[in-house]
Amino acid sequence: MQEEILSIKNQAMAQIMSSKDAAELEQIRIDYFGRSGKLTNLIKKIKEAPEDQRKQIGLTINEVKKSIEELISNQKNSFKESVREWFDPTVPGIKPAIGHVHLVTQTIEEISRIFGRIGFERARYPEVEWDWFAFEALNMPKGHPARDEWETFFVDAPENSRFGKMVLTPHTSNGQVREMLKVKTPPIRMINIAKCYRRQLDISHIPMFHQFEGLVIDKGISIVNLKGTLDYFAKSFFGAERKTRLRPYHFQFTEPSFEIDVSCGVCGGKGCKVCKGGWLELGGAGMVHPNVLKAGNIDSKKYSGFAFGWGVERVLMMKDGINIPDLRMIYSTDLRFLTQF
Ligand code: PHE
Repeated sequence: MQEEILSIKNQAMAQIMSSKDAAELEQIRIDYFGRSGKLTNLIKKIKEAPEDQRKQIGLTINEVKKSIEELISNQKNSFKESVREWFDPTVPGIKPAIGHVHLVTQTIEEISRIFGRIGFERARYPEVEWDWFAFEALNMPKGHPARDEWETFFVDAPENSRFGKMVLTPHTSNGQVREMLKVKTPPIRMINIAKCYRRQLDISHIPMFHQFEGLVIDKGISIVNLKGTLDYFAKSFFGAERKTRLRPYHFQFTEPSFEIDVSCGVCGGKGCKVCKGGWLELGGAGMVHPNVLKAGNIDSKKYSGFAFGWGVERVLMMKDGINIPDLRMIYSTDLRFLTQF
């Protein structure tokens, strides 16, 4: 009888190991443990065995029963792990959420494209910069009061004997002289878009923002070219019906200098609640000062040029259909806000 038990055990194990799904496994279980299963029948036969062997036979059958049960349950688990039991390849999947580039990046790309169409090349210059490029080369010597306008962050680092202190760029105008020194001989048509830093924080100012700086230098460049470029940008970015105007202003690095306004998109220039008498302020511009050309090793008798520098976030907030009440929201990480754009 011992032999019979062992042969049933081997048989059962082979069947379980080669079973392919839970239904087959269940059938095997019934074949062995069911009411007239092979093991059940063996148990019934114990009483036919000689008295002195019955105890031993009972123990063996019990052990075999345990190991078969264990094997069945292991096999069942292995089906679960390989998900064969329930996987339905026709069930529609869950779509992963797809993001998009940030509103500011979209605007930077749009500005680059607009100026790219009229031959401006995108440039990048250091955002941690020497005082000389940010101020001195721009006709603002050390201690000049005009510097106060740019509420500058100074870096706690050793001074350079020629270029002075290290600053976080308070405007993209540092790129002007860097571009002149790089290109050496005009023509120059640069658009420098970069991060700027100033000590400011309220609903329309943040310590880190972006500016885009245009610089054109060539023979015979005049205010007419500046005005044409500004009009082209305003029409491309804000809409075909928009106009620009120049208002006299002062910057150390341009002469003459202007503040640029764009006609209001809400009232069309008549004057309304959102604008100042039909106009909205864009930012500064002017004809490059001879001292700046000199700092960039460019002969101001041969060449002239214009420059402008405006805030990316500022033009973005002035765009029709974009209503951002607080500039700081642009840099929040709140997806409910960001996914709108
Ligand atoms: N850099 C100036 C600013 O930050 C803007 C400007 C750029 C003005 C170029 C004139 C020419 O306000």
